[in-house]
Amino acid sequence: MEQPLDSTHGQQMDKTTVRDIEVNNKRALVRVDFNVPLDKATGVIADDSRIRAVLPTIKYLIDRGAKVILCSHLGRPGGKVVDKLRLAVVAQRLSQILGRQVGFIKDCIGSDVEKAVEKSKNSDVLLLENVRFHPEEERNDASFAQALARLADIYVNDAFGAAHRSHASVVGITQYLPAVAGLLLEKEIEALGSILDHPAHPFAALLGGAKISDKVDMIENISGKVDYILIGGGMAATFLKAKSYEVGLSLIEQDRLDLAAKLMEDTAKRGVRLLLPVDVVVADEVSTQAKTSTVSIDNISPRLRIVDIGPRTIKKFGEELQRCQTVFWNGPMGIYEIPRFAPGTQAMAELLANLDATTVIGGGSTAEIVTRLGLASKMTFVSTGGGASLRFLAGKALPGVEALLNKSS
Ligand code: 3PG
Repeated sequence: MEQPLDSTHGQQMDKTTVRDIEVNNKRALVRVDFNVPLDKATGVIADDSRIRAVLPTIKYLIDRGAKVILCSHLGRPGGKVVDKLRLAVVAQRLSQILGRQVGFIKDCIGSDVEKAVEKSKNSDVLLLENVRFHPEEERNDASFAQALARLADIYVNDAFGAAHRSHASVVGITQYLPAVAGLLLEKEIEALGSILDHPAHPFAALLGGAKISDKVDMIENISGKVDYILIGGGMAATFLKAKSYEVGLSLIEQDRLDLAAKLMEDTAKRGVRLLLPVDVVVADEVSTQAKTSTVSIDNISPRLRIVDIGPRTIKKFGEELQRCQTVFWNGPMGIYEIPRFAPGTQAMAELLANLDATTVIGGGSTAEIVTRLGLASKMTFVSTGGGASLRFLAGKALPGVEALLNKSS
């Protein structure tokens, strides 16, 4: 059961938002994160949560008579046109969701784009082509940022998922237009900020996914705030190895063993309980045909690899999480892409969905999992940012947020 975030004490955005400025009759360039997962075989959008998440900002601008010019990246085309990463498919989906035609423009800068914007009317919505088809985007090139800025009177950043990137459409452009936060960006900062600033205790971080290296800064930052850290997924193997367990053929980060040992030592000193799996599912290969068994962590064969947490671990993690008032979850508990290795991840998703606590889900694959299971609405907050939410929870500044106008200015 979801609990509302405590908005009375939430971290307040110190940045100007779209609500603070006049938008009527203005051309608003809105940077969104439409980097949606596409089905590999068909190219169809597999999860449109990131599109739905920016609807409040788009509707806010439509209702107040702004021209809405959306721009985004999709994938990593490396500065050239990649047909599979065209945004036309997103324009179609957005048109369906909004119930009004979204004009798709085949580039994001240049005179044709400027003409299309000029021709559009107040409250029209346009989507520009993938900004990363231009190499200048990722270089944060000033001329490219200026070319984007020529399209608009105001700039709205609603791309929380890209706010950790110092790219032209995220940072450079703020030099040339009054730059404010969108409603999603504001909500993300408040939601993630509130679990850092004043979480209700006990507070647990449930962490999984392949690598420690992606999460080390975040773990260090939150270990001063949490009561429990529960570790599953691929990264559990590195922690187990650091405690001298045999982990067989599991992928471990050899160069992070000392770091894992230090994290365990530091958290223990701080009085944080760090829990590792007590049993795991092991397999002879990573495939749907694999032979699997469930073993205690002191009984992993050198010829097998860990692919999921086991039932005793699910029960133990569940018992600890039941005690908590706040839970932050980032990273699957096993190789969940293969359904036979997904029960641990699924069990944690279901458990969190039914918890009487504030539940905050990190973006990226964890958000996709809870959405696919139909459980997103049962969580307090599901972030749209993968790398961005990790960086924010690591206590680091997000360049795309820093670049926006301060409230006082
Ligand atoms: C994401 O999916 O995390 C964002 O869209 C950022 O994408 P990037 O990692 O390719 O910059």
